[in-house]
Amino acid sequence: MRCIDLDLEILIKKLAGKYFGHKLFYYSKTTSTNDKAFELGIAGMPEGTAVIADSQSRGKGRYQRSWYSPPGANIYTSLILRPQITPSEASMIPIMTGVAVAEVLNFYCSDKISLKWPNDVFINGKKVCGILSQAKIQKEKIDFIVLGIGINVNIGYKRLSEEIRDSATSLAIENGRKISRQDLVINLYENLEKWYKKLQQKRFGAIKRKWLKLSPMIGKIVQVKFTEEPIEGKATGLDDDGSLILLTEENKEIKISAGDATIME
Ligand code: BTN
Repeated sequence: MRCIDLDLEILIKKLAGKYFGHKLFYYSKTTSTNDKAFELGIAGMPEGTAVIADSQSRGKGRYQRSWYSPPGANIYTSLILRPQITPSEASMIPIMTGVAVAEVLNFYCSDKISLKWPNDVFINGKKVCGILSQAKIQKEKIDFIVLGIGINVNIGYKRLSEEIRDSATSLAIENGRKISRQDLVINLYENLEKWYKKLQQKRFGAIKRKWLKLSPMIGKIVQVKFTEEPIEGKATGLDDDGSLILLTEENKEIKISAGDATIME
């Protein structure tokens, strides 16, 4: 099965025996790789199982948003994780993933990559990757986590939907050249393995340090929107559970566990 720069046979060969992707489900079109991976998780597929699609008809973003998923251009992938961590430690998973993706993308767009809390990956201030992790919890334990990653790789400016044209970008737009999605998927899975191992060893400190290096938010006034009332404060750090620590105008330290953050200055 060949799909321009995603050759399934080569992918299967190169990912054989690897931690992520040793079991691979490829779809030229599916509703959402997260939904497929969730079904596979329920069916008992092991940790490291990967789903890749060339396009999605109902790509999902955070907070019930949709994720623009046209064919022939981008990466849409979801991985099954079965980590030995508590549900409260699970928020470190998308933080760790942001770090792993940002590190890989730095090879393609050196020094232009940054992270926006909690886990959006940006190039030159525009979003290039989104991460959606969904957990299946049973009896207060994690049964599995579906880790969904969408990366805008070769999509051109004109093909971006009008809605996101001003706020999103792709590696090809920023680099001025197309990139092999296949190589990128392989590099991504390998780097994810490296960072996931740190998480399994509970080395959250290493993940946090790398996140803080890649994020321009710390020390800046940040606004976080989650409910109607946005919260504003100076970002001072990242907590062990992945929450953003803000210092409010009243000098009160607060921890934010969910929302969309924007730098105000
Ligand atoms: C976000 O930034 O809102 C998260 C976007 C996550 C998109 C990816 S694409 C692969 C996987 N399948 C989905 O339906 N969503 C995630």
